[in-house]
Amino acid sequence: MDAEREREFDRVVAAEQRVEPRDWMPDGYRKTLIRQIAQHAHSEIIGMQPEANWISRAPSLRRKAILLAKVQDEAGHGLYLYAATETLGADREDLTTRLVQGRQKYSSIFNYPTLTFADVGVIGWLVDGAAICNQVPLCRTSYGPYARAMIRVCKEESFHQRQGYELLMTMMRGTEAQRRMVQDAVDRWWWPSLMMFGPPDDASSNTERSMAWRIKRHTNDELRQKFVDMTVPQAEALGVTLPDPELRWNPERGHHDFGQIDWDEFWRVVGGDGPCNRQRVDHRRAAHENGAWVREAAAAYAAKQARQEGAA
Ligand SMILES: [Fe+2]
Ligand SMILES: [Fe+2]
Repeated sequence: MDAEREREFDRVVAAEQRVEPRDWMPDGYRKTLIRQIAQHAHSEIIGMQPEANWISRAPSLRRKAILLAKVQDEAGHGLYLYAATETLGADREDLTTRLVQGRQKYSSIFNYPTLTFADVGVIGWLVDGAAICNQVPLCRTSYGPYARAMIRVCKEESFHQRQGYELLMTMMRGTEAQRRMVQDAVDRWWWPSLMMFGPPDDASSNTERSMAWRIKRHTNDELRQKFVDMTVPQAEALGVTLPDPELRWNPERGHHDFGQIDWDEFWRVVGGDGPCNRQRVDHRRAAHENGAWVREAAAAYAAKQARQEGAA
Protein backbone atom coordinates (compact mmCIF):
# COMPACT_ATOMS: atom_id res chain seq x y z
CA MET A 1 0.00 0.00 0.00
CA ASP A 2 2.76 2.42 1.00
CA ALA A 3 4.76 1.49 -2.10
CA GLU A 4 1.74 2.30 -4.23
CA ARG A 5 1.23 5.65 -2.51
CA GLU A 6 4.89 6.44 -2.85
CA ARG A 7 4.71 5.75 -6.61
CA GLU A 8 1.75 8.11 -6.88
CA PHE A 9 3.68 10.78 -4.91
CA ASP A 10 6.72 10.35 -7.18
CA ARG A 11 4.51 10.61 -10.26
CA VAL A 12 2.88 13.86 -9.04
CA VAL A 13 6.28 15.41 -8.29
CA ALA A 14 7.83 14.27 -11.59
CA ALA A 15 4.84 15.61 -13.56
CA GLU A 16 5.34 19.07 -11.97
CA GLN A 17 1.98 18.80 -10.26
CA ARG A 18 1.45 19.97 -6.69
CA VAL A 19 1.40 17.89 -3.55
CA GLU A 20 -1.52 19.03 -1.38
CA PRO A 21 -2.04 18.76 2.41
CA ARG A 22 -4.43 15.79 2.20
CA ASP A 23 -2.10 13.76 -0.07
CA TRP A 24 0.17 11.04 1.23
CA MET A 25 3.80 12.14 1.38
CA PRO A 26 7.03 10.55 2.61
CA ASP A 27 7.95 11.43 6.19
CA GLY A 28 11.25 12.95 5.10
CA TYR A 29 9.48 15.21 2.62
CA ARG A 30 7.11 16.46 5.32
CA LYS A 31 9.94 17.01 7.81
CA THR A 32 12.15 18.79 5.28
CA LEU A 33 9.31 21.09 4.29
CA ILE A 34 8.35 21.91 7.87
CA ARG A 35 11.97 22.77 8.64
CA GLN A 36 12.45 24.87 5.51
CA ILE A 37 9.13 26.74 5.73
CA ALA A 38 9.56 27.33 9.48
CA GLN A 39 13.05 28.76 8.95
CA HIS A 40 11.64 30.92 6.20
CA ALA A 41 8.80 32.13 8.46
CA HIS A 42 11.23 32.87 11.29
CA SER A 43 13.40 34.85 8.86
CA GLU A 44 10.47 37.03 7.82
CA ILE A 45 9.61 37.79 11.45
CA ILE A 46 13.16 38.31 12.75
CA GLY A 47 13.85 40.28 9.55
CA MET A 48 11.42 42.95 10.74
CA GLN A 49 13.83 44.01 13.49
CA PRO A 50 16.83 45.55 11.69
CA GLU A 51 14.62 47.86 9.63
CA ALA A 52 12.04 48.57 12.32
CA ASN A 53 15.01 50.11 14.12
CA TRP A 54 14.68 53.05 11.71
CA ILE A 55 10.90 53.57 11.58
CA SER A 56 10.89 56.15 14.36
CA ARG A 57 13.82 57.99 12.78
CA ALA A 58 12.83 57.95 9.11
CA PRO A 59 13.85 61.26 7.50
CA SER A 60 10.39 62.14 6.13
CA LEU A 61 6.75 61.13 6.41
CA ARG A 62 6.96 59.52 2.97
CA ARG A 63 9.97 57.38 3.93
CA LYS A 64 8.29 56.43 7.19
CA ALA A 65 5.10 55.31 5.41
CA ILE A 66 7.09 53.23 2.91
CA LEU A 67 9.19 51.61 5.61
CA LEU A 68 6.17 50.86 7.81
CA ALA A 69 4.40 49.21 4.88
CA LYS A 70 7.47 47.14 4.11
CA VAL A 71 7.99 45.93 7.66
CA GLN A 72 4.29 45.07 7.95
CA ASP A 73 4.53 43.06 4.72
CA GLU A 74 7.25 40.96 6.35
CA ALA A 75 4.93 40.20 9.27
CA GLY A 76 2.33 39.06 6.73
CA HIS A 77 4.89 36.83 5.00
CA GLY A 78 5.70 35.21 8.33
CA LEU A 79 2.01 34.55 8.98
CA TYR A 80 1.40 32.95 5.56
CA LEU A 81 4.37 30.71 6.07
CA TYR A 82 3.47 29.63 9.60
CA ALA A 83 0.01 28.82 8.22
CA ALA A 84 1.67 26.73 5.48
CA THR A 85 3.57 24.71 8.13
CA GLU A 86 0.26 24.07 9.91
CA THR A 87 -1.09 22.38 6.76
CA LEU A 88 1.75 19.87 7.30
CA GLY A 89 0.75 19.21 10.90
CA ALA A 90 3.23 21.55 12.57
CA ASP A 91 2.20 23.59 15.58
CA ARG A 92 2.91 27.31 15.44
CA GLU A 93 3.41 27.71 19.19
CA ASP A 94 5.96 24.88 19.05
CA LEU A 95 7.83 26.54 16.16
CA THR A 96 7.93 29.86 17.98
CA THR A 97 9.26 28.11 21.09
CA ARG A 98 12.01 26.51 19.02
CA LEU A 99 12.94 29.91 17.59
CA VAL A 100 13.11 31.75 20.91
CA GLN A 101 15.03 28.88 22.49
CA GLY A 102 17.57 29.01 19.67
CA ARG A 103 16.72 25.48 18.48
CA GLN A 104 15.58 26.57 15.01
CA LYS A 105 17.43 28.89 12.65
CA TYR A 106 16.52 31.94 10.63
CA SER A 107 18.48 33.67 7.89
CA SER A 108 21.80 34.86 9.28
CA ILE A 109 21.63 38.13 7.35
CA PHE A 110 19.38 39.56 10.07
CA ASN A 111 22.14 39.19 12.66
CA TYR A 112 23.91 42.22 11.21
CA PRO A 113 23.16 45.73 12.58
CA THR A 114 21.56 48.63 10.69
CA LEU A 115 23.87 51.56 11.42
CA THR A 116 22.47 54.32 9.18
CA PHE A 117 19.33 55.05 7.17
CA ALA A 118 21.24 54.03 4.05
CA ASP A 119 21.07 50.49 5.43
CA VAL A 120 17.30 50.57 4.85
CA GLY A 121 17.95 51.20 1.16
CA VAL A 122 20.70 48.62 0.87
CA ILE A 123 18.63 45.97 2.65
CA GLY A 124 15.80 46.57 0.19
CA TRP A 125 18.12 46.45 -2.79
CA LEU A 126 20.45 43.60 -1.81
CA VAL A 127 18.70 41.57 0.90
CA ASP A 128 15.22 41.66 -0.60
CA GLY A 129 16.90 41.28 -4.02
CA ALA A 130 18.60 38.09 -2.87
CA ALA A 131 15.35 36.94 -1.27
CA ILE A 132 13.62 37.38 -4.65
CA CYS A 133 16.28 35.24 -6.37
CA ASN A 134 15.68 32.54 -3.75
CA GLN A 135 11.91 32.79 -3.72
CA VAL A 136 10.85 33.19 -7.35
CA PRO A 137 11.78 29.54 -8.10
CA LEU A 138 9.83 28.53 -4.97
CA CYS A 139 6.64 29.63 -6.74
CA ARG A 140 7.12 26.29 -8.59
CA THR A 141 8.02 24.25 -5.54
CA SER A 142 6.22 20.90 -5.30
CA TYR A 143 4.21 21.61 -2.14
CA GLY A 144 1.04 23.50 -3.15
CA PRO A 145 0.45 25.77 -0.12
CA TYR A 146 4.11 26.85 -0.07
CA ALA A 147 4.17 27.55 -3.82
CA ARG A 148 0.97 29.59 -3.64
CA ALA A 149 2.17 31.60 -0.64
CA MET A 150 5.35 32.42 -2.56
CA ILE A 151 3.46 33.97 -5.49
CA ARG A 152 1.94 36.64 -3.23
CA VAL A 153 5.16 37.05 -1.22
CA CYS A 154 7.25 37.62 -4.35
CA LYS A 155 4.99 40.41 -5.57
CA GLU A 156 5.54 42.20 -2.28
CA GLU A 157 9.29 41.49 -2.30
CA SER A 158 9.55 43.23 -5.64
CA PHE A 159 8.07 46.38 -4.03
CA HIS A 160 10.64 46.00 -1.23
CA GLN A 161 13.49 45.85 -3.65
CA ARG A 162 12.27 48.85 -5.64
CA GLN A 163 11.73 51.04 -2.59
CA GLY A 164 15.29 50.27 -1.48
CA TYR A 165 16.78 51.03 -4.87
CA GLU A 166 14.77 54.24 -5.22
CA LEU A 167 15.91 55.36 -1.76
CA LEU A 168 19.54 54.74 -2.72
CA MET A 169 19.10 56.58 -6.04
CA THR A 170 17.76 59.57 -4.12
CA MET A 171 20.67 59.50 -1.68
CA MET A 172 23.20 59.15 -4.51
CA ARG A 173 21.79 62.34 -6.06
CA GLY A 174 22.18 64.08 -2.71
CA THR A 175 25.24 65.32 -0.85
CA GLU A 176 28.73 63.86 -0.70
CA ALA A 177 28.01 62.69 2.88
CA GLN A 178 24.92 60.81 1.67
CA ARG A 179 26.90 59.11 -1.10
CA ARG A 180 29.48 58.03 1.47
CA MET A 181 26.71 56.60 3.67
CA VAL A 182 25.39 54.54 0.76
CA GLN A 183 28.84 53.23 -0.15
CA ASP A 184 29.55 52.33 3.48
CA ALA A 185 26.27 50.41 3.72
CA VAL A 186 27.04 48.56 0.46
CA ASP A 187 30.49 47.66 1.81
CA ARG A 188 28.97 46.16 4.95
CA TRP A 189 26.02 44.28 3.33
CA TRP A 190 27.49 42.92 0.10
CA TRP A 191 29.23 39.82 1.45
CA PRO A 192 26.53 38.89 3.96
CA SER A 193 24.02 39.15 1.06
CA LEU A 194 26.03 36.61 -0.94
CA MET A 195 25.99 34.33 2.11
CA MET A 196 22.17 34.38 2.05
CA PHE A 197 22.23 31.66 -0.62
CA GLY A 198 23.73 29.24 1.88
CA PRO A 199 26.91 27.18 1.84
CA PRO A 200 28.57 26.21 -1.46
CA ASP A 201 26.96 23.25 -3.24
CA ASP A 202 29.66 20.78 -2.22
CA ALA A 203 29.01 21.61 1.46
CA SER A 204 25.22 21.74 1.29
CA SER A 205 23.90 18.48 2.70
CA ASN A 206 20.20 19.03 1.98
CA THR A 207 20.41 20.22 -1.62
CA GLU A 208 20.34 16.93 -3.50
CA ARG A 209 17.34 15.39 -1.73
CA SER A 210 15.42 18.68 -1.87
CA MET A 211 16.10 19.01 -5.61
CA ALA A 212 14.85 15.46 -6.22
CA TRP A 213 11.64 16.29 -4.34
CA ARG A 214 11.43 19.53 -6.28
CA ILE A 215 11.22 21.49 -3.04
CA LYS A 216 14.36 23.26 -4.18
CA ARG A 217 14.64 24.16 -7.86
CA HIS A 218 18.22 25.48 -8.18
CA THR A 219 21.41 24.95 -6.19
CA ASN A 220 22.83 27.59 -3.83
CA ASP A 221 25.71 28.41 -6.18
CA GLU A 222 23.41 28.77 -9.21
CA LEU A 223 21.22 31.24 -7.35
CA ARG A 224 24.21 33.15 -5.98
CA GLN A 225 25.63 33.54 -9.49
CA LYS A 226 22.28 34.74 -10.78
CA PHE A 227 22.15 37.34 -8.02
CA VAL A 228 25.66 38.62 -8.75
CA ASP A 229 24.94 38.88 -12.49
CA MET A 230 21.71 40.73 -11.81
CA THR A 231 23.23 43.12 -9.25
CA VAL A 232 26.42 44.28 -10.99
CA PRO A 233 24.67 46.47 -13.60
CA GLN A 234 22.39 47.87 -10.89
CA ALA A 235 25.45 48.90 -8.86
CA GLU A 236 26.86 50.61 -11.94
CA ALA A 237 23.63 52.51 -12.56
CA LEU A 238 23.64 53.56 -8.93
CA GLY A 239 27.27 54.61 -8.99
CA VAL A 240 28.47 52.47 -6.09
CA THR A 241 31.41 50.07 -5.97
CA LEU A 242 30.82 46.48 -4.88
CA PRO A 243 33.61 45.67 -2.38
CA ASP A 244 35.21 42.82 -4.30
CA PRO A 245 38.42 43.48 -6.31
CA GLU A 246 38.03 40.11 -8.03
CA LEU A 247 34.58 40.88 -9.40
CA ARG A 248 34.70 40.95 -13.21
CA TRP A 249 32.81 39.75 -16.28
CA ASN A 250 34.01 36.42 -17.61
CA PRO A 251 33.05 36.28 -21.31
CA GLU A 252 33.84 32.54 -21.55
CA ARG A 253 31.46 31.60 -18.76
CA GLY A 254 28.99 34.33 -19.63
CA HIS A 255 28.87 35.21 -15.94
CA HIS A 256 30.68 37.42 -13.46
CA ASP A 257 33.55 35.88 -11.52
CA PHE A 258 33.72 36.95 -7.91
CA GLY A 259 36.00 36.61 -4.89
CA GLN A 260 36.06 34.02 -2.14
CA ILE A 261 33.28 34.30 0.47
CA ASP A 262 34.46 34.20 4.09
CA TRP A 263 32.79 30.91 5.06
CA ASP A 264 34.31 31.07 8.55
CA GLU A 265 32.28 34.20 9.16
CA PHE A 266 29.20 32.51 7.70
CA TRP A 267 29.46 29.49 10.00
CA ARG A 268 30.27 31.68 12.99
CA VAL A 269 27.12 33.77 12.49
CA VAL A 270 24.98 30.68 11.76
CA GLY A 271 26.38 29.17 14.95
CA GLY A 272 25.07 32.08 17.01
CA ASP A 273 28.11 34.34 17.22
CA GLY A 274 27.14 37.18 14.87
CA PRO A 275 26.96 40.84 15.88
CA CYS A 276 23.23 40.78 16.82
CA ASN A 277 22.19 37.12 17.30
CA ARG A 278 21.48 37.48 21.02
CA GLN A 279 19.68 40.80 20.60
CA ARG A 280 17.41 39.49 17.83
CA VAL A 281 16.31 36.36 19.68
CA ASP A 282 15.94 38.20 23.02
CA HIS A 283 13.76 40.81 21.36
CA ARG A 284 11.59 38.14 19.74
CA ARG A 285 11.25 36.26 23.03
CA ALA A 286 10.23 39.43 24.90
CA ALA A 287 7.68 40.30 22.20
CA HIS A 288 6.23 36.79 22.41
CA GLU A 289 5.97 36.92 26.21
CA ASN A 290 4.50 40.41 26.21
CA GLY A 291 1.90 39.25 23.68
CA ALA A 292 0.68 36.34 25.84
CA TRP A 293 -2.35 38.30 27.07
CA VAL A 294 -3.45 39.00 23.49
CA ARG A 295 -3.36 35.31 22.61
CA GLU A 296 -5.23 34.41 25.81
CA ALA A 297 -7.88 37.08 25.18
CA ALA A 298 -8.32 35.98 21.54
CA ALA A 299 -8.67 32.34 22.59
CA ALA A 300 -11.18 33.24 25.33
CA TYR A 301 -13.20 35.31 22.84
CA ALA A 302 -13.19 32.50 20.26
CA ALA A 303 -14.34 30.02 22.93
CA LYS A 304 -17.16 32.37 23.97
CA GLN A 305 -18.29 32.80 20.36
CA ALA A 306 -18.28 29.03 19.89
CA ARG A 307 -20.38 28.58 23.07
CA GLN A 308 -22.91 31.16 21.92
CA GLU A 309 -23.16 29.58 18.49
CA GLY A 310 -23.64 26.20 20.13
CA ALA A 311 -26.45 27.61 22.30
CA ALA A 312 -28.23 29.41 19.45
FE1 LIG B 1 9.46 38.95 3.07
FE1 LIG C 1 10.99 41.76 1.90
